[in-house]
Amino acid sequence: MKQPSMNERGLKEVLAIVVFTVLVALFSAAPAFASDPEKVFKFYCAQCHGLTGKGDGPNVTKDFPVSPRNFTNAKEMDKLSDADLKNVILDGGPSVSKSPMMPPWSKTLTAEQVDGLVKHLRGICKCKGKQG
Ligand code: HEC
Repeated sequence: MKQPSMNERGLKEVLAIVVFTVLVALFSAAPAFASDPEKVFKFYCAQCHGLTGKGDGPNVTKDFPVSPRNFTNAKEMDKLSDADLKNVILDGGPSVSKSPMMPPWSKTLTAEQVDGLVKHLRGICKCKGKQG
């Protein structure tokens, strides 16, 4: 029986390495902060909700019809479950009869990033939210 020649084996290894390298390059093309919820928040949300989540971001002017939620307000944040937060982040204000000034993020952020954001918001309000 003929063993595969060294050359054939070598070629397969090289191919595997090339494919692997391309995959790594593709994935690392996403912004480096992609998995750090605090950085995601600062990049996408802080312009309206404020760096510390108080709803006082630089985007918010007098013309804003509604104020972005102040995430440090535990009393208000406790009225919402984690699932509520996730829904409004993914689908935007109008999906829960709130203002279209709150954009939908499902095309921009991954489910993982949104889960991270929900945890981040809970850290800001220091509240657990509505259970169930
Ligand atoms: C263009 C401004 C803007 C940006 C950017 C923005 N928001 Fe909002 N957000 C709002 C406004 C305004 C509201 C209030 C809507 C209302 O009460 O009708 C809101 C509401 C919310 C609510 C709902 C709070 C509640 O009481 O129901 C959550 C949760 C939220 N935003 C999370 C986020 C997250 C997370 C991001 C970043 C991925 C983000 N927002 C980015 C403007 C913004």
